[in-house]
Amino acid sequence: MKVIIKKKIYRVISFLVLVVVIVQFIQPRFENPRVTGDITAPAEVKTILKRACFDCHSNETKLVWFDRISPVSWMVAKDIRDGRNAFNFSAWNNLPAAQQKDKFWEIVNHALSGVMPLKEYTMMHPSAKLSESDLAVLKNYVSGMAYTETYDSSKATEESAQFNQWQKGNGIQFIPVASNGVAYDPDYKNWQAISTTDAFSNGTMRVIFGNAVAIRAIKEKNTRHWPDGTVLAKVQWDQLADHEGNIHTGKFNQIEYMVKDEKKYASTEGWGWARFKTPDLVPDDKDAMFATKCINCHRPVKDLDNVFTFPIEQ
Ligand code: HEC
Ligand code: HEC
Repeated sequence: MKVIIKKKIYRVISFLVLVVVIVQFIQPRFENPRVTGDITAPAEVKTILKRACFDCHSNETKLVWFDRISPVSWMVAKDIRDGRNAFNFSAWNNLPAAQQKDKFWEIVNHALSGVMPLKEYTMMHPSAKLSESDLAVLKNYVSGMAYTETYDSSKATEESAQFNQWQKGNGIQFIPVASNGVAYDPDYKNWQAISTTDAFSNGTMRVIFGNAVAIRAIKEKNTRHWPDGTVLAKVQWDQLADHEGNIHTGKFNQIEYMVKDEKKYASTEGWGWARFKTPDLVPDDKDAMFATKCINCHRPVKDLDNVFTFPIEQ
């Protein structure tokens, strides 16, 4: 009895091995057609695309040995064919500029939503996975495309002087304080950036920083109710793009703070709100109800403690 079962198992296994061997003779043809219009993009953008997208969306496909084993190779061949048909970075520059722009928006949206690169591909090619910082690079690049004001190199000195001044603390001799007691805190530059936001439309670059208490709350997943001592800062610059699509930081516009103190700021949802405008950091508190305006606009996220930013996992 036992011997018969063993024999059967042996036969089934031999048969499967035979099938696997035979299908190896049925191989799709892999070719890399000529590159006719290689995409031009800043090096940091192109590196990401090459690593994560080029295998299926270019004529520079690099196969590894297991991609060539049937039946995997059949699926790989299909992905490459469909991928190149959808769009091809090796023929990118042959597209009209407006079309390149639209397509790149779609590309970044696919990457941000996590549908690309294909899951079954990243499982086998983990190095193609996109990190948060990869996504931020792509987002920054595409948001520069949206902006019509182009970078004027004659103004570059003025703008970079302003940026340098900002980095040094805006050269201010005093610390401005808003009427509700929230003070400008120059230290935010040393805090961790928790997000850059989709300022796709209005041509500004916004970065949100969190102080140490905020970072700890994020780590401990305690952001439904940010603890006292949390400070969030949102800083905003103009964003300028040059002809190559490189992003330059323009004028410093403003910085906004939310300072958590449940008792002190009980009347304004537990947060102290303040905005300081222009490189001179003028408190935007002329209107006695200024915090109400902040709150009204943050109300859609009331259940998230009035905070929009969904912090990137630390
Ligand atoms: C393993 C192969 C593979 C990789 C790697 C890959 N894609 Fe794709 N992609 C495809 C295939 C296949 C399609 C077509 C899917 C369809 O039509 O349903 C596609 C379609 C798309 C589309 C839709 C285009 C259209 O016109 O419909 C976008 C956008 C896209 N991919 C972006 C990306 C980005 C960005 C990356 C890299 C971060 C990437 N893909 C990496 C295989 C891949
Ligand atoms: C027109 C609507 C609007 C108004 C008014 C507004 N905010 Fe915001 N604020 C937002 C949005 C939307 C975000 C999310 C990030 C983004 O898109 O830039 C945000 C983000 C922030 C953040 C980062 C934390 C978070 O919630 O993501 C701070 C800090 C902030 N705002 C402070 C203020 C202050 C202070 C005021 C008032 C002086 C104010 N905001 C007024 C819409 C508004």
